[in-house]
Amino acid sequence: MLDRLADGYQRLSRFSADLAHEIRTPVNALMGHCQVTLYQRRSVEEYESVLARNTEELERISLMMENILFLARASQAQSVIKPVTLSLDAELQRIADYFEGLAEERNLTLCASGAGQVCADPMLLRRALSNLVDNTIRYAHAGGEIHLRGHRQAQGWQIEVINQGEPVAARHLDKLFDRFYRADDARTSSGNASGLGLSIVKAIMTLHQGDASVHCAANGEIHFSLFFPDRTAAG
Ligand SMILES: Nc1ncnc2c1ncn2[C@@H]1O[C@H](COP(=O)(O)OP(=O)(O)OP(=O)(O)O)[C@@H](O)[C@H]1O
Ligand SMILES: [Mg+2]
Repeated sequence: MLDRLADGYQRLSRFSADLAHEIRTPVNALMGHCQVTLYQRRSVEEYESVLARNTEELERISLMMENILFLARASQAQSVIKPVTLSLDAELQRIADYFEGLAEERNLTLCASGAGQVCADPMLLRRALSNLVDNTIRYAHAGGEIHLRGHRQAQGWQIEVINQGEPVAARHLDKLFDRFYRADDARTSSGNASGLGLSIVKAIMTLHQGDASVHCAANGEIHFSLFFPDRTAAG
């Protein structure tokens, strides 16, 4: 009982530390924008533009809070996970279809392949795959192909998400799954990236008693792999 309380307390402290770490800067910036705007009378267009910009920033903060909460909860218990048997082919195709439009904007083609069945919590599997594919669209070289592949392995199923991109140095590779870690600030600082996507993927794979890993191939491909061990479906 005491152990559980101590564990809960530790998680709560980490959650507050994470929130403070990520949210202090954007909240201060928002306050600054509002104060400067209120300093003198402005045109309707100016007010509209400030409100639109602030709304975008608030959406980003809200998504980040949701992600930090997800991580805090995911480290809690096995009870959140409801694995069922899913068609690998259908799941990969579903994600490819979902991201097709976004991929087209960067002239990227999504190719899904893999027959078989994976035992996973559908919402969590889709969330993990979405985070990986979202990254490929953000970081891949424009104009290339993104592959989603499912393979049978000795004791489970592996899903790979592969794209061509800037090689990631070995010293960064180990840390990509850490919370708030971004390999290259110059490349990522402009967008909405918060460095939480891959830590969520890792947490989801831990809930499945599986694993998430990454390696860079010699031909400039970056491979993210998810391993789902064989298990019995709950429903
Ligand atoms: N497919 C990829 N190719 C190259 N680098 C990648 C790829 N996926 C992730 N990375 C690197 O790993 C870092 C961490 O990725 P992660 O998804 O955790 O965070 P993010 O994309 O920066 O932000 P978020 O996902 O929270 O919006 C990225 O900032 C990027 O440097
Ligand atoms: Mg990401």
